[in-house]
Amino acid sequence: MPRRLTARISTALAVLVLVLVGWQWWASLLPSSYTAMEMGYVDFGGGERFDHAGPGEAADHWHGDIAHTAAHSRTTAGAGSGDPVDVADIVGETTGRPDVSVGLTATEQTTTLADGTSYDGYALNGSTPGPTIQAVVGDLVEVRFRNDDVTDGATLHWHGVDVPNAADGVAGVTQDAVAAGEEHTYRFVVDEPGSYWYHSHQVSHEQVEKGLFGGLVVHPTRRDLRDASRGGDDLLALVHTYDGERTINGVADTLPVAADAGERVRVRLVNTNNTPMTFWVPGARWRLLATDGHDVYRPTPLEDVVVPVGAGGRADVEVVVPSGGARIQLGETSILLGDGDPPLEDQPEASLDLTSYGAPSAEDELLREAAEADSFDRDFTYDIGRRPGFLDGRPGIWWSVNGHLYPDVPMFMVQEGDLVRMTISNHSGEDHPIHLHGHRVSVLSKDGEPITGSSWQVDSLNVEHGESYEVAFVADNPGVWMVHCHNLPHAKDGMVAHLMYEGVTTSFAMGDDPGNHPE
Ligand code: C2O
Ligand code: CU
Repeated sequence: MPRRLTARISTALAVLVLVLVGWQWWASLLPSSYTAMEMGYVDFGGGERFDHAGPGEAADHWHGDIAHTAAHSRTTAGAGSGDPVDVADIVGETTGRPDVSVGLTATEQTTTLADGTSYDGYALNGSTPGPTIQAVVGDLVEVRFRNDDVTDGATLHWHGVDVPNAADGVAGVTQDAVAAGEEHTYRFVVDEPGSYWYHSHQVSHEQVEKGLFGGLVVHPTRRDLRDASRGGDDLLALVHTYDGERTINGVADTLPVAADAGERVRVRLVNTNNTPMTFWVPGARWRLLATDGHDVYRPTPLEDVVVPVGAGGRADVEVVVPSGGARIQLGETSILLGDGDPPLEDQPEASLDLTSYGAPSAEDELLREAAEADSFDRDFTYDIGRRPGFLDGRPGIWWSVNGHLYPDVPMFMVQEGDLVRMTISNHSGEDHPIHLHGHRVSVLSKDGEPITGSSWQVDSLNVEHGESYEVAFVADNPGVWMVHCHNLPHAKDGMVAHLMYEGVTTSFAMGDDPGNHPE
């Protein structure tokens, strides 16, 4: 081949590569306004197909005319059975006088933590963590949220509580971020007892870390609530790292709690950080009572194991306080129950296997039957990897969902009443705590082995590198729901997808123009 021709061919190839890379760069740019309805592509999980509001699979790229999407969605979503419902209208049964009524005001300020250190960040009603909300099953909770001066705006999301979609608190999906000086009221009925928490879902990777969160406990009966508020045997323990210092309820090192010898204490540990934690209780009788607000059936006493709690997750532990006191140890941080000063012990190697803890019960029957008969209405895959590409124009090696980079991620499409299975696997090199909004999922199997212990229900499931879980849930809460990584910087870097119901649309948008940045 003549040299000139070779040179021309290589120039042409170089130009082609540049054009391709340039196109990828351009295609990755996020519009100044975009909605969850048109992110990526529709995934029906092998089940019945139906019309969807966004361009979905029909469009080869979502970089279209974004401006009229909301209007467009309104007219085309749904199964031809009338107009689609907007998330803002999915409010549930929330009329009447609230049983619990709370005002929460967000501020940017220097706060004195419970242990006396001062912290520069955000606060709710002047403190971080914010006030704990206590309720009883069946209560209508009303929270009047005011953002005083958080510049980016803020919201409140009720982590683990299956609220009606309108109350979910996700900026750009279920509401607009509440701007400084504005207010927003949340109303929802709490119908499952357990330990939960709330946090901002606007710029959440920054706002949660800097203090915009608090606890929410739903007691089975009014009497439990009364006992708990008298103090003593029922304690919420929010674990949070401020400026690199791990604290429990704002106290570094040791949180002392008064308790009598022989008393049975329930401690509700909440992991509000981005990475997993473990705890154990040396030198005392203890059991794990609940995971993510769901009771373990027949929990047995534990010894020489640590209990893992993924980011966003909760673990309720019961400790029978011995006469010399006991410590719930989280590494070097601990809760000291009762009198005495037992020394910190070295952490055991073994980790509690939640797939075989407790005893099988009649729970999850529907889902277990579906698993045995392999008869789910939908079967989704949430496969977490990592690959090179552009994220909003930034080159890097980014988290991928089913091989796709944000925003080209799956829209998991369901119909109300579907029995849904999702297989979550991870080969990305890091842990990912996967959190589904609005639904409680039951773990069916881990690495191909069905669970043999108590029903294990979660809303935040830590999936380690190399692991694979099958989880299942009933699609019983219509809306547009996030399913994302609760290592919030990962979510910000694109580990976000949505579960979407037939006939539901959102008129809210994300992006710089509306000022909604949920992660
Ligand atoms: Cu705890 Cu999407 O959040
Ligand atoms: Cu992650």
